[in-house]
Amino acid sequence: MAGHLPRAPGFGMLAAMQDLRWPTYAVRDLVLDGAAPGRDPDGRGSVYVADAEGNEYLDGVGGIGCLPLGHAHPKWVAAIAEQAGKIAVAAATFPTAPQRRFVELLVERSVVPDARVFLANTGTESNEAGIKIALRATKRDVIIGFERAFHGRTLGSIALTATPAYRDPYVSCLGEPDERFARMNVARAVFDDLESVEKLFKQYGERVAAVFVEPIQGEGGIHPASKAFLLGLRGMCNEYGALLGTDEIQCGSGRTGNFDAWTTIVGDDPKDAPDIAWYAKALGGGFPIAACVAKAGIAEHMSKGSHGSTFGGNPLASAAGLATLQIMDDENLLDAAADQLPTLHEIVAERPHRRVTEVRGLGAMLGIEISGEGEPAAPLGDILQDEGLLVTVCKGKTIRLLLPYRADEAILRDAWSRIRRGLDKLHT
Ligand SMILES: Cc1ncc(COP(=O)(O)O)c(C=O)c1O
Repeated sequence: MAGHLPRAPGFGMLAAMQDLRWPTYAVRDLVLDGAAPGRDPDGRGSVYVADAEGNEYLDGVGGIGCLPLGHAHPKWVAAIAEQAGKIAVAAATFPTAPQRRFVELLVERSVVPDARVFLANTGTESNEAGIKIALRATKRDVIIGFERAFHGRTLGSIALTATPAYRDPYVSCLGEPDERFARMNVARAVFDDLESVEKLFKQYGERVAAVFVEPIQGEGGIHPASKAFLLGLRGMCNEYGALLGTDEIQCGSGRTGNFDAWTTIVGDDPKDAPDIAWYAKALGGGFPIAACVAKAGIAEHMSKGSHGSTFGGNPLASAAGLATLQIMDDENLLDAAADQLPTLHEIVAERPHRRVTEVRGLGAMLGIEISGEGEPAAPLGDILQDEGLLVTVCKGKTIRLLLPYRADEAILRDAWSRIRRGLDKLHT
């Protein structure tokens, strides 16, 4: 429960300070300070975080899916410190040892066969790289995306992101009244509905450069695609000569038990694999690094100067990424991640709650849907914070838990008890 630990002196001043950032975020009344002391006795990263007053919280936000190892995993901290003492940044024209090794591991692990890698810093940047390579390699101009999709906040990415409020007033989509985004045209289909995709292929035919899909929609409310849908997309892209891209930013990097959520849903037959995949969030264990991975025959369309990033793949970030992948292997974290949803199902079945209509997701990507009209779950972010559990709420209906992969039955029971208490206080 929140409120156990003594108040840190002077915290009041920090909380009261004016927030001088752009007012773009729904800011919580909470200043996070670090891993909760004493909550990581075995040195495997803390699933609990403390605020600046010393209250502790079970962290189901994890920087929105960026903390597969939890907070302050000692080996991850040591790897970053060691690299910082050597060389932090080198222009991308100068390869470094940690970057070379990190890229090798990505090529080994990614679902994309015979892959080549572009390194970036954030999710939206890796999505933009996916857009550029798809348009360049095919010389076509339409990308098919999906309702409820989220691919990031830069201009190309928001064109693919479904939420109109994020796109307005910058970009519009084909078929919408005000088509003003000239170079990339997004046509939007219904998620998990092949017929709606086929209709767009028939309409735009050889203009379609690519289909971009999240195998599990995250921001859209934790909706996994079916295997038949993803395989159907593969078949249609083959038929029309379009590329298939999987956005693994939130669901990938091990969160579902395989490196790619695509593999968890579809399997690992290379003939079914996507052509492009992109990763961020959990990839650096909390340090910003992202990657867009494409088949070699596609990557060769990116000539010198056609894309770049000053910080992308810098040695410090690469060292963090390397340590993250190594720790995931050493501690069997992908298997642990895979167990989360089945374990939560068992816990919820033992002690159901009348407000919960569905528990869904895959592995460590968990969604708990709340009954009620409109946006019944909207107040739960704050209510559960008071119960000592940090969550995000998707579309006002679904509690989203993106816990560190190690979160086991005891931690999931702890989370569920707090959620039950919070639900008892929900009057929407
Ligand atoms: C599926 C997906 N794609 C892209 C992004 C954008 O990532 P970033 O915020 O690092 O730019 C996100 C972020 O939530 C995401 O969940």
